Amino acid sequence: MTIDQLTKVAVIGSGAMGHGIAQILAMNGYEVTMIDISEEILQKAKEKIKWSLDKFAEKKRIRREDADVAFSRIRTTTSYEKAVKDIDLAIEAAPEKMDIKKKVFAKLDSIAPPRALLASNTSTLSITEMGKATKRSDKVAGMHFFNPPQLMALVEVIKGDKTSQETINTLAELAKKLGKTPVVVRRDVRGFIVNRILGAVFNEAFWTLRRGEATKEEIDASVKYTGGFPMGWFELADFVGLDIAYEVGEILYKAYGERFKMCREIINPLIKEREFGQKTGIGFYDWTKGRPRIPFNLSDEYNVDRSWAVAVNEAAWLIHDDAANPEDIDTGMKLGTYWPSGPCEYADRTGLDTIFSKLKELHAKYNMEMYNPCSLLEDYVNKNWIGKKAGRGFYQYGV
Ligand SMILES: NC(=O)c1ccc[n+]([C@@H]2O[C@H](COP(=O)([O-])OP(=O)(O)OC[C@H]3O[C@@H](n4cnc5c(N)ncnc54)[C@H](O)[C@@H]3O)[C@@H](O)[C@H]2O)c1
Repeated sequence: MTIDQLTKVAVIGSGAMGHGIAQILAMNGYEVTMIDISEEILQKAKEKIKWSLDKFAEKKRIRREDADVAFSRIRTTTSYEKAVKDIDLAIEAAPEKMDIKKKVFAKLDSIAPPRALLASNTSTLSITEMGKATKRSDKVAGMHFFNPPQLMALVEVIKGDKTSQETINTLAELAKKLGKTPVVVRRDVRGFIVNRILGAVFNEAFWTLRRGEATKEEIDASVKYTGGFPMGWFELADFVGLDIAYEVGEILYKAYGERFKMCREIINPLIKEREFGQKTGIGFYDWTKGRPRIPFNLSDEYNVDRSWAVAVNEAAWLIHDDAANPEDIDTGMKLGTYWPSGPCEYADRTGLDTIFSKLKELHAKYNMEMYNPCSLLEDYVNKNWIGKKAGRGFYQYGV
């Protein structure tokens, strides 16, 4: 399936992500059918799309008549048979449970034409596993949009063990046609790029709090005001949802072991009380009166180099695992989470030797795997690939 042949798409699940994905597809000329388990849920999803299209039109980001045409391109049904029988692509955005995803993929495979590609918007689950539920694993891939899909520019396109390069190319092209920037995750690794690197900085912050070295306000103020990140790590965890952060943390721990050792003492009490952050009104912070105020005067109490050190280390692991290249890692962090810089370009500016020494120092002090420098980093430092000043680091300069 090439991008020019692709016109009809089914979106499976019309919740927070599904309705947004359906909307951007329709805004870009695709015929879309949304599937969900009840007419009532589908009706709500259509109302949300209508509201969002109205906002786009009010803000003059699209013309009124284009908003109306986009809306008319979206159909809804609870019947897989009706929705899927002549599609070119299905994008699944059903709940994040492997048993549900597998059932959905098996059903899609049994009804959709053999040419159709099947993509999942999963944040963490294995694309290879979903592919195994079908007889077309070469046509199954990840297409991970960020929330809200109408506004966020990034899409991670993920290759399962059997996914063909043609499938990846077509989905990356589709992301571009939707006005997004695709980054390719070449191996089906847990956390893909963005959630994996975020997982590393969250863990560093949680353990720092646990050791009593800084308060959450001190860490967040330093990350935000000194580091130039849009939110502190505790504020961001609350914003993402601590239930989701916890689940992703578990998956990363299962996949990578001690390097992602979770600080359960910090997160478990909140999970137990169902204090999940912004959506429940309370988490690390109280959100009942709006966004928490992070005091500016605490912004020198945590050394943000530590966040960068673990982020760079995880970026090195992604490259070591042949899962992503430095450009895609940097693009992912800048567009997926609005980081002021990607970790690889940051490392090249700061010096890989400096970061390597920082990691060694932290590893010696705390004896935790997250600080143990990746062998790729050590290899680069030994070759004097230490960044911009040497003409070569994660990137090559001056050629
Ligand atoms: N919410 C986020 O911030 C976010 C970001 C990126 C990726 N994701 C991923 O996107 C997927 C969907 O997440 P969400 O937040 O939109 O969830 P959601 O709970 O808001 O929506 C899921 C929808 O799927 C429907 N559904 C359940 N079983 C179904 C079935 N068998 N067939 C069709 N529809 C079914 C539900 O009724 C619901 O409307 C998950 O895999 C999640 O990990 C979520």
